[in-house]
Amino acid sequence: MKADVLLGLHWGDEGKGKVVDVLTPSYDLICRFQGGPNAGHTLEFNGIKHVLHTIPSGIFHNHCLNVIGNGVVIDPVILKKEIDALVKMGVDIKKQLLVSRRAHLILPTHRLLDAASEASKGKEKIGSTLKGIGPTYMDKTGRNGLRVGDISSSNFKEKYNVLVEKHKQLLAFHNYEYNLAELEPTWMEAIETLKGLTHIDSEYFVNKALRDGKKVLAEGAQGSMLDIDFGTYPFVTSSNTMTAGACTGLGLAPRSIGNVIGIFKAYATRVGSGPFPTELNDETGEKMRKIGNEFGSTTGRARRCGWLDLPALKYAMMINGVTELTMMKADVMDDFDVIKVCTHYKINGKETEVLPFDVCDAEITPVYKEMKGWKQNITSGNNMPEALLNYIHFIEEQTGTPISIVSVGPDRKQTIVMKKEEV
Ligand code: GDP
Ligand code: IMO
Ligand code: MG
Repeated sequence: MKADVLLGLHWGDEGKGKVVDVLTPSYDLICRFQGGPNAGHTLEFNGIKHVLHTIPSGIFHNHCLNVIGNGVVIDPVILKKEIDALVKMGVDIKKQLLVSRRAHLILPTHRLLDAASEASKGKEKIGSTLKGIGPTYMDKTGRNGLRVGDISSSNFKEKYNVLVEKHKQLLAFHNYEYNLAELEPTWMEAIETLKGLTHIDSEYFVNKALRDGKKVLAEGAQGSMLDIDFGTYPFVTSSNTMTAGACTGLGLAPRSIGNVIGIFKAYATRVGSGPFPTELNDETGEKMRKIGNEFGSTTGRARRCGWLDLPALKYAMMINGVTELTMMKADVMDDFDVIKVCTHYKINGKETEVLPFDVCDAEITPVYKEMKGWKQNITSGNNMPEALLNYIHFIEEQTGTPISIVSVGPDRKQTIVMKKEEV
């Protein structure tokens, strides 16, 4: 068997959590492969709304195992909170959740360093979620990090102290005031919860599952435009959010990757700083924010809104090898007379479909195609209005890829599986 990958093609918050939850009945294993509690994946079903940060979005289906892979960074305090909430809802966490020994730990000082770094950048700040993501991945690549497997070693406390001493020097460099004594007891307590979970060598586990014929879905966090290599650098996160990240974040060989399901919204959003060519700073953007309830699932910040950006979407699809698309939040467009789609950019007077290297500095003017809105509520796949079908077919034709799911509301049930047809 090959593992499928599901990931976001924009700047995150495309609705990955919802779709993973919808698809989980077809899978045996759901595996997060990168990111950490900067993610907020929202699931809605039976009147329950639940946001997951570190735990994969298959956790509400009890036939399914959920793996936190080696590429993920874990804040034990946030993970404990997530676990406590799920246990209250009757989830058998010990049975259903498995954690890679190689996943790195977010220390309280990583969070302080994230805050100190953002404060020192002033107006140039990344708009980080302040969860300590950047500093933790820096320690990982700098070969200083602590991993889940380390917490079982007899000298864990010693290793922790060595790293914290390094961090204290950096915090002094930033002239950052903090009270670590206030944060440490909660973190150490949460480490005990983490210790009590099932730790695995996820690379062996996932590969064996595939050999045994199990169906595996790798769940991405963030989105391709936030990828550390290919996103709008430096306004990105600190991990590879793309398909290749599923290989390094789970120990999968590239040839073990099957379908790649790319998720995008019928429009576009971004939270935090950085370029966003189709952003609308007007009442249309405000309307999208209001109807789409575009406020961050992790930080509550208002998300920036704009039209769908095909050059960015095609770029993301290229680097990920997307085999099928899922269009989210089509319902948010239900009341628009006209829907615009950016087909090209104009840069220095020239039309191009290419995202420039200096995307943060370039003056990019989007060139739009205007399409008629469908002006009705969509509740099922039967008798879809022509204007909506035109919108779907235009994107399929532009990307050469089928849209297999159209989402028309946050609930599990508000999901339309499109009939298979050649594009
Ligand atoms: P993720 O990070 O990609 O999992 O996405 P988030 O959960 O951060 O943000 C997506 C938001 O849109 C959540 O509040 C979802 O409940 C909501 N949502 C998902 N799909 C739809 C949809 O089709 N229509 C509407 N209106 N909301 C949706
Ligand atoms: P999900 O998985 C949207 C953004 C932050 C900031 C930048 C860097 O829910 O889609 P970081 O804390 O990673 O150092 O922040 O990335 N960001 C997200 N935006 N959805 C996310 O995750 C995000 N995770 C990080 O807003 O601009
Ligand atoms: Mg989110």
